[in-house]
Amino acid sequence: MACFQRYVFLSLLLQAILFLNNHTAKCDDEEDNLLQGINSYRVGLNLTALTKNEKAECLAEEIADQFKDQPCTNTTGSNTVPGTESQFSNYPSLLAKCHLNVTTTRDGMIMPACVPDLVPSLVLSNFTKSQYSLYLNDTKYTGAGIGSDKNWIVAVLTTNTPEGNYMPGDSTSPGFKLMLNYHTLFLLTGFFLLL
Ligand SMILES: *[C@@H]1O[C@H](CO)[C@@H](O)[C@H](O)[C@H]1NC(C)=O
Ligand SMILES: *[C@@H]1O[C@H](CO)[C@@H](O)[C@H](O)[C@H]1NC(C)=O
Ligand SMILES: *[C@@H]1O[C@H](CO)[C@@H](O)[C@H](O)[C@H]1NC(C)=O
Ligand SMILES: *[C@@H]1O[C@H](CO)[C@@H](O)[C@H](O)[C@H]1NC(C)=O
Ligand SMILES: *[C@@H]1O[C@H](CO)[C@@H](O)[C@H](O)[C@H]1NC(C)=O
Repeated sequence: MACFQRYVFLSLLLQAILFLNNHTAKCDDEEDNLLQGINSYRVGLNLTALTKNEKAECLAEEIADQFKDQPCTNTTGSNTVPGTESQFSNYPSLLAKCHLNVTTTRDGMIMPACVPDLVPSLVLSNFTKSQYSLYLNDTKYTGAGIGSDKNWIVAVLTTNTPEGNYMPGDSTSPGFKLMLNYHTLFLLTGFFLLL
């Protein structure tokens, strides 16, 4: 009996994992589509393609999560001052969630858009044929991260300068900790070799 229960539990767990994978894969599709679309647009303008920035993507996901319950009719309000911190009251905590610091994100650009069902052609034109094209036309941006939730999709542009490269900005970032661990490991190994 216990064995049967375990079997049921494990198969449910497996299904949950598969479902989650499917779900994220679908979201990733829309996000990858947009990045590809933006890059074709930029290549058409003789601009460099934007490289994927994981940290910017994290922030984009967090911001999409903030917007997800707002109806699309409310886009004008959120679009008026794109990229400024003032439109998100809890911006500092969103940054912190992604281990980012305002000093390395200052020059980035945050662009939310709402498109029912995230229809790919409409999503792309909401960026390339709107006021956002001003930023997509700009050579100063070199990277991007895209996040989506429900009808909302958010593109975050990054630069290759210290003020906009979205490098992890606090010492609790996993990358930094890992490096520290390797470093201590190295030191410890050296210590034991000396003995
Ligand atoms: C892109 O660059 C090529 C060659 O440098 C040039 O012929 C073309 O006119 C440029 N296109 C635009 C849109 O600037
Ligand atoms: C629209 O957005 C503003 C500010 O983000 C918010 O105060 C307002 O409640 C929203 N309206 C609707 C209908 O969601
Ligand atoms: C951001 O980084 C600057 C300089 O590296 C530091 O002085 C500041 O305390 C950091 N802020 C946060 C919220 O981590
Ligand atoms: C943006 O998306 C909306 C749907 O939310 C659509 O009605 C509108 O035409 C799109 N705007 C552009 C410039 O493509
Ligand atoms: C961006 O470039 C495109 C193509 O040159 C142009 O149609 C569009 O008006 C530009 N956007 C802005 C905001 O200047």
